[in-house]
Amino acid sequence: MSVDLRSRYLGLELKNPIVASASPMTSSIDSLKRLQDAGVAAVVLPSLFEEQIEHEEMATHHLMLSGAELSPEARGFFPEMQNYNTGPDNYLKLIGDAKKALSVPVIPSLNGYTPGGWTHIAKQFEQAGADAIELNIYFLATDLQDTSVEVEKRYIDLVDSVSSMVTIPVAVKVSPYFSAMANMAARLAGAGASGLVLFNRFVQPDILLEELEVAPHLVLSTSDELRLALRWIAILRGRVRASLAATGGAHTPEDVLKLLLAGADCVMIASSLLRQGPAHIATLVSGVEKWMTEREYDSVEQMKGSLSQQSCPDEAAFERTNYMKALTSYTG
Ligand SMILES: Cc1cc2nc3c(=O)[nH]c(=O)nc-3n(C[C@H](O)[C@H](O)[C@H](O)COP(=O)(O)O)c2cc1C
Repeated sequence: MSVDLRSRYLGLELKNPIVASASPMTSSIDSLKRLQDAGVAAVVLPSLFEEQIEHEEMATHHLMLSGAELSPEARGFFPEMQNYNTGPDNYLKLIGDAKKALSVPVIPSLNGYTPGGWTHIAKQFEQAGADAIELNIYFLATDLQDTSVEVEKRYIDLVDSVSSMVTIPVAVKVSPYFSAMANMAARLAGAGASGLVLFNRFVQPDILLEELEVAPHLVLSTSDELRLALRWIAILRGRVRASLAATGGAHTPEDVLKLLLAGADCVMIASSLLRQGPAHIATLVSGVEKWMTEREYDSVEQMKGSLSQQSCPDEAAFERTNYMKALTSYTG
């Protein structure tokens, strides 16, 4: 008997849990088609930024990446970086073209941090055919006067404003740096988020010693990053009224399986696609299917969340006791 790999995310039926996260890999129809041919279940388009909507321009060099660790196939996508996010009109066209070219759900991404006029574009995303919207709130609270209460309110207002503008589902991609992540997750869902995409990965600037300059430094992830999302998805599974997507550090079928067991509704991948190219999707899907068959799981829906905090026999495994255990059991 074959395993049923389908998973529900934002009310959409995905044929398997692998979703291409926003990255240059999802920035052209050609690469989107390759992802679909390789078996991807849905695609998230690269973000359209608030600054682009307000000013119609954005320096693409903010997204810099060393080509050194990319596969030759992935490197081929990088000339498209010149066209990465070139403004609202082109972006709306990308949504429409993607909808025509693909049968899998298309999720455009809106990236901003201030409630304001720019959020009206969400309606146009919907009219262009988007199946859902991913709202990426990328904000660093560096102002000494900004309190956490004000910052959180800004998130909630933004989610409320975007989700009340459209009838399609809105997923919210946020960072893990809240004092009370669980409470924030519940409030984001309460404000209208149908899904949470956990987590945003901040591009940390670096200092170039030769040039004595500060430069953006984007490095691709490794599987070591996986456990941040793993923990929080396990904690939130079954407790917030929102779908849960994992992003950050999923590279192997084992990584995907762990996130599903923790309770992810889908696993988003960017770095592994940029390194290995679209064919990696087929490797992930078949690896997940093989493992599930060997352990006699019937379906992804049945397996999802079976090791979440609520289902786990050792509830404290995801909390502070786990930290003490880890430190005291270290053997070098
Ligand atoms: C080159 C590059 C460009 C990205 N562009 C976007 C973007 O436009 N919007 C967004 O929400 N995330 C963007 N991301 C973040 C990814 O979608 C993803 O969340 C992150 O890389 C963690 O997943 P990973 O470990 O699979 O790479 C980008 C990542 C990379 C490497």
